[in-house]
Amino acid sequence: MIDAKVKATNIVWHNPQATKAQREALLNQRGATIWLTGLPSSGKSTTAYGLEFELIEKGFLAYVLDGDNVRHGLNKDLGFSAEDRAENIRRVAETAKLFADAGLIVITSFISPYRVERDFARRIHLAAGLNFAEIYIDTPVEVCEGRDPKGLYAKARRGELKGFTGIDDPYEPPLSPELVCRTEEFSPREVVFRIIEFMVEEGFLEGRAHLWPYGRSCAGK
Ligand code: ADX
Repeated sequence: MIDAKVKATNIVWHNPQATKAQREALLNQRGATIWLTGLPSSGKSTTAYGLEFELIEKGFLAYVLDGDNVRHGLNKDLGFSAEDRAENIRRVAETAKLFADAGLIVITSFISPYRVERDFARRIHLAAGLNFAEIYIDTPVEVCEGRDPKGLYAKARRGELKGFTGIDDPYEPPLSPELVCRTEEFSPREVVFRIIEFMVEEGFLEGRAHLWPYGRSCAGK
């Protein structure tokens, strides 16, 4: 299902004069996509916006693409059928890739329930020479349901919301994510710093890792 059929004809790829390396030098950072996946209310948005804030405070240009927000605009024509969720993720993967190619650190926060779609996102980033990490926000469904800030699990339990992920719609956990974060064991700040530590270790923050001298222990500061 992933990857749309090409409908356009007479299109020719145009090679730009400016390079990604020039944009990255201008921004003093490497473009990358941090792809968060997990159940509804697992803590993806809290993590994404916390990470964005931490990176921006340290002088990195980071930007969150969040499911609820993107569905207000670019993807407002999509619902929650398997086809629409696939198209949602395809568009987000392509958008993240463009932003990362522009030199930004993109943080995506979508349930992205299907492996094949997440694999597509990884594949197109790696093919473009862009850093990509799939991070599983691993929160048990009982904990997510206990949080339920939008009351959607309760609605789904009452039978007022059909096809809700975690209740009567599938979620395929990642088989080999770059990182797993358990939000029932760690605070939002600790999760953010675990991701920063991962980014430092993997060279995503090349040349500026010294901004976090104490790694994960910064979470306590
Ligand atoms: S995804 O499955 O296509 O990746 P996405 O992350 O964009 O989902 O959107 C999830 C948000 O949509 C949830 O936070 C919730 O507020 C809302 N939502 C509405 N209906 C559903 C549903 N049936 N399943 C999951 N989320 C839903």
